[in-house]
Amino acid sequence: MTVPHLPAICCIFWIATCWLAAGLYFAPRFGGYEPKNQALGNTVLLIALTVVVIGSMIGTWEAVTGVLNIKDSFLWGHQGYEYIELGRVWQLLLIGGMVFWLWLMYRAFKPALQKEKNPTGLSHFFLYSAITIPLFYSVGLAYTNRTPLSIAEYWRWWVIHLWVEGFFEVFATVVIAYLCSELGFLKKTSALRATYLTTILYLGSGVIGTLHHLYFSGTPSFIAAMGAVFSALEVVPLTLIGFEVLKTLRLSEEAEGFYRWPLRFFIATCFWNLVGAGVFGFLINPPIILYYSQGLNTTPIHAHAALFGVYGCLALALMLFALREFVPEKAWNESLLRFAFFSINGGLVVMLLFGLIPNGFYQLVQSINYGTWYARSAEVISSPWMRWTVWLRIPGDIIFAIGALTMFVFTIRAIIAIFRFPVKTTRPEITVDMSNAQS
Ligand code: HEM
Ligand SMILES: [Fe+2]
Repeated sequence: MTVPHLPAICCIFWIATCWLAAGLYFAPRFGGYEPKNQALGNTVLLIALTVVVIGSMIGTWEAVTGVLNIKDSFLWGHQGYEYIELGRVWQLLLIGGMVFWLWLMYRAFKPALQKEKNPTGLSHFFLYSAITIPLFYSVGLAYTNRTPLSIAEYWRWWVIHLWVEGFFEVFATVVIAYLCSELGFLKKTSALRATYLTTILYLGSGVIGTLHHLYFSGTPSFIAAMGAVFSALEVVPLTLIGFEVLKTLRLSEEAEGFYRWPLRFFIATCFWNLVGAGVFGFLINPPIILYYSQGLNTTPIHAHAALFGVYGCLALALMLFALREFVPEKAWNESLLRFAFFSINGGLVVMLLFGLIPNGFYQLVQSINYGTWYARSAEVISSPWMRWTVWLRIPGDIIFAIGALTMFVFTIRAIIAIFRFPVKTTRPEITVDMSNAQS
């Protein structure tokens, strides 16, 4: 198992916060109505999330430094599982927060549901996909600190794969499809088609695809075949939407102009979905390859390109879509955004090309030639090649960090401007000539 690291935990919290916030922004926008005290509810949720994030981080630190005993550690500190480190109490509070989020969204979104009537329409799908977020995160409660490891691992993968890679991706596709159809970049029929396709693919194959994490967990051998084949279909829906948006974008210069940077981050999401989740995911997906590469640095090649590339860029795209609509024109600094876009994505490419790929592949060759024990031994880990590739990762990391800092500066400036020069909306009416677009 790979070693848990702080950036992964922060990254998941950061991504989840961006998504929840986007849901809260878009629900009243799509519903066309803001319920009473919605702003108060949003503020309470933000405070609650901050308490959970800070509390669970302090708990994790206390657990790994031995301040908490084993029993208290499970409840308040560190559950002992990568990506679901947070103590059980924090986990329950987080689920409570997600349910509250769902309720806040539902009350604002109700008019759109009532208008649509059809329970299989796009608005209803938006609601269904939002329900899966707290629901499938809750399966992380299915084990305790006394559950045998292989069973706990099974449920843990329900959260990591099925929740993060599965239902999050359904939610992402629905939000993007909905947004693009509302903004006029995507035909309603294409949006609905992608949404149906996603749901069928995920529920039909993504669920079985979870098994690609359980090839060697003492499961029967057909499990490996099922997991490998079905998980390979996961990248299709978001990629289809990406192509569709690209095609439609060419038809509307106004849309390209106004939403240029949110859309570019969205196209980056689709790109990394294809490369990070698709190419690098496929790379380690065949059971025979994973037999040699499990626990090696080939997994972080895929994990970084997929987790940040897909969900990180999508979190940024959603944040920018929302900000674009109420940040005053003069505070919308395109040069900062351009710089942030190229250094974040460029930094990730440099980090992969010069750091993670040569590092992981070298280890993989050692594993195939001499066995996993050798590839993970101190001899290989501290070999000159491995050390060099760790150093070579640094330029990419720095470029990426500068981009992230630029995005932070952009956002702070934009938020200050919102308070200084409040505007109702700056959103133009977008007209897209759909006659050339495919349905
Ligand atoms: C956006 C979607 C995806 C995200 C965010 C994602 C993320 C991740 C992460 C973070 C890990 C590392 C887990 C660990 O540390 O143990 C991982 C592992 C893995 N992923 Fe993905 N993934 C995605 C899609 C895919 C797809 C489409 C495939 C198959 C084509 C795939 C195949 C795998 C495999 C086989 C592993 C296990 C590697 C190992 O056991 O060492 N992933 N994924
Ligand atoms: Fe997976």
